[in-house]
Amino acid sequence: MRTILFTGKGGVGKTTVSAATALACARAGERTVVMSTDPAHSLADSFDMALDGSLTEVAPNCLATQLDATERMEESWGEIQSYLRSVLNWAGVDQIEAEELSVIPGIEEIFALTDIVNFERSGTVDTLIVDCAPTAETIRLLSLPDVLSWYMDRAFPLGRKLTKTLGPMVGKMTNLPVANDEVFAAVELLYQRFDDVRNILRDPQRSTVRIVVNAEKMVVAEARRTHTYLSLFGYRTDAVVVNKLWPAEVVDPWFAAWKHSQAEQLTEIETGFAPTPILYSYLAPAEVVGVAALKEFGRALYGETNPSEVLLHYDPVRVARSGAQYTLTIDLPFATKEALSVTRSPSEVFIRVGPYRRSVLLVDSLKKREVVGARLKNGKLVVRFQ
Ligand SMILES: Nc1ncnc2c1ncn2[C@@H]1O[C@H](COP(=O)(O)OP(=O)(O)OP(=O)(O)O)[C@@H](O)[C@H]1O
Ligand SMILES: [Mg+2]
Repeated sequence: MRTILFTGKGGVGKTTVSAATALACARAGERTVVMSTDPAHSLADSFDMALDGSLTEVAPNCLATQLDATERMEESWGEIQSYLRSVLNWAGVDQIEAEELSVIPGIEEIFALTDIVNFERSGTVDTLIVDCAPTAETIRLLSLPDVLSWYMDRAFPLGRKLTKTLGPMVGKMTNLPVANDEVFAAVELLYQRFDDVRNILRDPQRSTVRIVVNAEKMVVAEARRTHTYLSLFGYRTDAVVVNKLWPAEVVDPWFAAWKHSQAEQLTEIETGFAPTPILYSYLAPAEVVGVAALKEFGRALYGETNPSEVLLHYDPVRVARSGAQYTLTIDLPFATKEALSVTRSPSEVFIRVGPYRRSVLLVDSLKKREVVGARLKNGKLVVRFQ
């Protein structure tokens, strides 16, 4: 299954481009599904059709869905939640409050990601288009499988062992509810799911992200950071979609300054994001709503380009050896020295860029080696090992 995620700043046209891309893939004969992870769903508005958590055919070969995140959450989170509730009750928090407290805010979206695994497993989808929430939420979402796995790798086996041996004792002494096997099974399943999501989204042959921008300074600045953070977590960007460009037909002098600054920003995008392919799309005379308008939009956007092709192949994280020295290279386009910190533990390297942190687990050949230097140059972080 080919998976393409669309992200970008609020209002740039993510939903429009996602819907148009889905229709273009379907027209090429691919069995296509378009879904959104944005709790503020707007796919239905874009297609101008009623959509819900089931799959609705919006055009031949093209299904759309707006998932009910809460429902998904109940499926995998129910056991864990009821355990948390019993702990909270034990701690003296009363029932109603416990209900409210045991819902972690924002956790629902993560379950949208587990749907990706379901589609992949079903074997009935050739191309999955994911309309993501605005950048910050999306990065947080895409970093969650990493963060949770990191935590679970360390806390879970230990936590499990401890409760297994201490559990009966703790239970007797304090009446503290002990997590039972169902809770552990639920945690394990969740963990497995996140791992599956990561494996799909980091597969270079199958999954890429496309960043949607408008040729405006603030939008471009955010897109640069998005590109950095996505790369940090190992996600590949295979195109930048520049939307809402002023068409050449607009010659009214009132728009001259707008057109001028767009041209400037366009150059910034083209040079800054190189070698990432750029797709262009112009401001339509009216809102782009409904299947017919979206199809037209998609045709103009992709031209001769196959919309589901992986448009750029590269590896954001690489290990290489030259002589006695090993290097770990991580693409961090646009990252600055000031925003970056690198630390290591025996088995991993921690990289922080701005507000995001990732641990890169070291292959065995690197674990025993000392870090002798780290350097950021031309958007690449190179960590050298002796
Ligand atoms: N090229 C275009 N020409 C004209 N209108 C456009 C174009 N692209 C998008 N629009 C319109 O701009 C509005 C915002 O687009 P859209 O909903 O796709 O953005 P979004 O990035 O998904 O927004 P959000 O961040 O709220 O999810 C919609 O009304 C859409 O029809
Ligand atoms: Mg949207």
